Amino acid sequence: MAGLRVAVVQFAPVFGEPQRNLATMLALLDAARPAHVVIFPELALSGYFFQSRQEVAALAQPADGPLLQRLHREARWRRQILIVGFPEHANGRLYNAAALLLPDEERVVVYRKTHLFYKEKLCFDPGDTGFLVVHVPAYDVRIGVMICYDWRFPEAARTLALQGAELIACPSNLVTEAWEIVMPVRALENKVYLAVANRTGAEERNGERLTFRGKSAIYHYNGTLLCRAGEADTTVLIADIEPQRTRTKAFDPLDDIFADRRPEHYRL
Ligand code: ACM
Repeated sequence: MAGLRVAVVQFAPVFGEPQRNLATMLALLDAARPAHVVIFPELALSGYFFQSRQEVAALAQPADGPLLQRLHREARWRRQILIVGFPEHANGRLYNAAALLLPDEERVVVYRKTHLFYKEKLCFDPGDTGFLVVHVPAYDVRIGVMICYDWRFPEAARTLALQGAELIACPSNLVTEAWEIVMPVRALENKVYLAVANRTGAEERNGERLTFRGKSAIYHYNGTLLCRAGEADTTVLIADIEPQRTRTKAFDPLDDIFADRRPEHYRL
């Protein structure tokens, strides 16, 4: 299959209201119907600004919990790959996680956020999955996931690209603007497509307010913008991509950004 259609969903999850967020996500899935891959924001099911581990524990669920099972049924029915941010409860630990719900598989692949941001450090355990890439034979695409603040670490996208990611999905709750400079560079320097599903709205907890910046975007592997949402829109962005074109990292007959690497000179 040549082309792949990718959607990012932008909305404002309501803190502490997973059923309501699920209902919003199901409604937005209808607008994402033409897409093969649909990416939702970080912690889309729960909202973001947790203040304690107890609060996370009250909303966290296992990867095979009822809300994700409901979304997985949609993935099978719609023949879509869904990528969903949620608070995960696993082995007595709490993770800021993203589930990859695949149309042809019972298992749920989970990425657990590696680099925790701000008060997440007080509320979640650091992710232990490492960066993983999933091949989906039905659409012959390799998808890697990083979550929001992972963007600050070039090692994240590079590790995914070295494992063969052709599309990096980045569920996000971005509260700054610097990422708009950096995300297209992550796409360009790794020759991968990159899709950022950011949220909108604000959350005020214990007198502190976080404002989420929207502007979800899908970038071409050459770093150009394929599409971008507004700051406050509830919307679904859709772009056509060609994952197979990222499989060679050459950009002229003599230069190849992976073959030309000199890891023996890198201190990481
Ligand atoms: C973030 O990692 N949610 C900024």
